Amino acid sequence: MKKEFNKNLTQLNTFGMSVTAKEFVTVTSPDQIKDMVKQSIFKSPFFILGGGSNVLFTDDFDGIVIKNEIKGIRLVKETEKDVTIHVGAGENWHDTVLYTIDHNWGGIENLSLIPGCVGASPIQNIGAYGVELKDVLTHVHFIDLQSGEEHSLSNVDCKFGYRNSVFKQVLKNKVFITGVELRLSKQHTLHLTYGAIMDQLSSVGIDNPTIKDVSDAVIEIRQSKLPDPNALGNSGSFFKNPVISKTLFDEIKKSNPDLRCYPSDELNVKIAAGWLIEKCGWKGKKIGNTGSHAKQALVLVNYGGATGLEVLTLANKIIKSVEEAFNVTLEPEVNIV
Ligand code: FAD
Ligand code: EPU
Repeated sequence: MKKEFNKNLTQLNTFGMSVTAKEFVTVTSPDQIKDMVKQSIFKSPFFILGGGSNVLFTDDFDGIVIKNEIKGIRLVKETEKDVTIHVGAGENWHDTVLYTIDHNWGGIENLSLIPGCVGASPIQNIGAYGVELKDVLTHVHFIDLQSGEEHSLSNVDCKFGYRNSVFKQVLKNKVFITGVELRLSKQHTLHLTYGAIMDQLSSVGIDNPTIKDVSDAVIEIRQSKLPDPNALGNSGSFFKNPVISKTLFDEIKKSNPDLRCYPSDELNVKIAAGWLIEKCGWKGKKIGNTGSHAKQALVLVNYGGATGLEVLTLANKIIKSVEEAFNVTLEPEVNIV
């Protein structure tokens, strides 16, 4: 394992923040992580880095950044109906989706084009277009950073929720995820009801879609509104969609009949943070080198040379104005470091 010093991370985070890591290593096997536990490396400040697509660095990192490159996809089990695969945490998420589609294994086609690595996918239970990782995940494998032992958690023990899991709660910074197991179907159930998927499919004349068609439709929709991080730095949705009480929802709806909601539980509903931010006048607004994206208000962008603190200042202004206008507090989805 070659250690680098004062490593520039600009190309390693999709926001394109120009920061350095005091120390930097790449790991390619679980054994290397176990060795690092023995060397007490995790007793000092550390940051595990996947694709850097859900992180906002606000300063140089005064510790060790560990880039995860644990690769490999293997078949664990196959039945007439489905397959279970183990995917190394350092595999690229979207490449994994394409691999499963090539094998005609269904279940994650709606999660096409989400940036980042497989290892981060259970942390916030990635989701898009009516599907979440929890719908297909059977196990998460990880190394306990205190004992150096390998463990795994089953789906139910991961305590998945909307953009949430045990890895963002009690296990935060306590484990290194090395791989996940996914159960994928050979007989597909397509999820076509969310958003513009059906419209997109009909616009290209498809009425009997395959999982590849669904993946292509999702890619098309995403490319039409989300900025490509290679062209414009961003971390996807900066905030989570807030879950609010039905009472508050009814109150806001009275003067805003266009407000839509998504069911959450008996007492609460989820509303679109992008709508709230747009209503407060932030959509497309540029402040210095940062701003809220013109096609998707929920995405904060780096127009070039922005610092993490600049983005954070904008985020805090947005939080304040949404609170004042709607009495709703937005919470960042992005990990702020
Ligand atoms: P990183 O940003 O590298 O890390 C994220 C967090 O996970 C950090 O705290 C890190 O320390 C921790 N971590 C990473 N790997 C490990 C590991 N192996 N073990 C322990 N901890 C680890 N998300 C969605 O859910 N749905 C979307 O539709 C979506 N669209 C996006 C679109 C764009 C354009 C962008 C830029 C982002 C989008 N995201 C979306 C957010 C992001 O892609 C996901 O959260 C993704 O899973 C992050 O993966 P990553 O490897 O880049 O994680
Ligand atoms: N909206 C506006 N103005 C905007 C943006 C959105 O009014 O500028 C409203 C519209 O009513 C729109 C609704 O918000 O119909 C939903 O917008 P969109 O379909 O773009 O989805 P989202 O709720 O903003 C969520 C996820 C995305 C995911 C999409 C598709 C969160 C925080 N974000 O965005 O995930 O790709 O749904 O499923 O849940 C991410 O997590 O980084 C991410 C991109």
